[in-house]
Amino acid sequence: MTNFSLRAGLIGSGFIGPVHLEALRRLGITVTTLCDLPDRAAAAAARLGIPRAVSDYRVLVRSPEVEVVHITSPNRFHRPMALAALRAGKHVVCEKPLALNSRETSEIVAAAHRAQTVFAVNYNVRFYPAVLAMRDLVHSGQLGDIIHVNGSYFQDWLFKDTDYNWRLLPREGGPLRAVADIGTHWMDTVSFVLGSRIAAVFAQLGTHHRTRQRPVGEVETFSRGTRSGKTVTYRVRNEDFASVLLRFQNQAHGNLAVSQVAAGRKNSLRFELYGSRQSAAWDSEKPETLWLGRRDEANQVVVRNSPAFGDGARGFTDYPAGHVEGFPDTFKMLFRAVYARAMAPQSKEPVLHATPEDGHHEVAVCEAILRSHRARAWATVRAPTG
Ligand SMILES: NC(=O)c1ccc[n+]([C@@H]2O[C@H](COP(=O)([O-])OP(=O)(O)OC[C@H]3O[C@@H](n4cnc5c(N)ncnc54)[C@H](O)[C@@H]3O)[C@@H](O)[C@H]2O)c1
Repeated sequence: MTNFSLRAGLIGSGFIGPVHLEALRRLGITVTTLCDLPDRAAAAAARLGIPRAVSDYRVLVRSPEVEVVHITSPNRFHRPMALAALRAGKHVVCEKPLALNSRETSEIVAAAHRAQTVFAVNYNVRFYPAVLAMRDLVHSGQLGDIIHVNGSYFQDWLFKDTDYNWRLLPREGGPLRAVADIGTHWMDTVSFVLGSRIAAVFAQLGTHHRTRQRPVGEVETFSRGTRSGKTVTYRVRNEDFASVLLRFQNQAHGNLAVSQVAAGRKNSLRFELYGSRQSAAWDSEKPETLWLGRRDEANQVVVRNSPAFGDGARGFTDYPAGHVEGFPDTFKMLFRAVYARAMAPQSKEPVLHATPEDGHHEVAVCEAILRSHRARAWATVRAPTG
């Protein structure tokens, strides 16, 4: 295992912050500093075993004990935190979506270019071994030309009108919710696998709960119920589900369904690639297997690290077949790629993690989806960089 000497600082200790922490520790990387809100920082740092707690991200990004800043706070803080970290000359791993709109994301793209440090957007799904294997099947031509792509990202944690999280408020999460929060994972993953970005979209958004109950006080992601038990009714201004037709730059067609009100689907990201030679399909809730479909021969279900799986995931899978790797491992693999790049900037290894440009593009796709929904027409993706 590489010995990473770089030290990390973490901003946010809610749902995903501890996932970053755990993956970093598995890589032997020390997290020296935690930043969170004044009423949470010290207790969270003590609980998570992080030596230093601060409540101002500007203190964390300037700390000489932090070389890599992990931003795991709600979306509206990504821009100021990312810009501050870049100004301080730090490497950055920023959670998705990169920021609230493409004006903000283009500022981050420009700042990342100026800083010349490593900047990754945490689209972790790229690092499932099966996703890397599918990418290799596409790039080596084994699927043939991709004709069309089908898939969905479904969850049920916002199924009830009493389910609440900051993502439901556009000022906290951005104007789109299900699409920006989980749809961008799907779109980033499929674009990564195809090696082709989304060029145009036709979208229909839907809101099942037009009003919801908001607890008095905050609620952590995926947690149930409220702390005080008291709620107030509020009007919902972003979508619970969406249907999107896609046209990729390579002319492949796609259709994507996204929902956070799909009862029974906990965290299912699924996509199927239909090529001119054969097909391939994957579901994140069965992460270890890939389905390969053929017209004139038997279909196959291939298992990670077995011969038929291919070696597209080489270097990004640690355990033998049957010793399941899943969600937490994708963070470990993504961070391994980021820290390796940060320690060897001249390396010629391909950059597999999402870049600021990728994060910027996903936000521009979200904006096209909103324009398309409002205009009831196809919308091309405009991705200005500043
Ligand atoms: N890659 C993934 O699979 C994945 C999964 C979940 C969330 N996310 C992303 O991670 C981010 C955080 O989501 P979450 O679900 O962990 O949210 P959360 O609400 O559970 O946690 C957010 C944390 O940030 C802290 N925080 C809020 N404002 C802050 C500030 N000004 N300064 C410092 N800390 C602050 C909160 O106190 C909390 O500890 C979001 O951008 C989300 O889209 C990514």
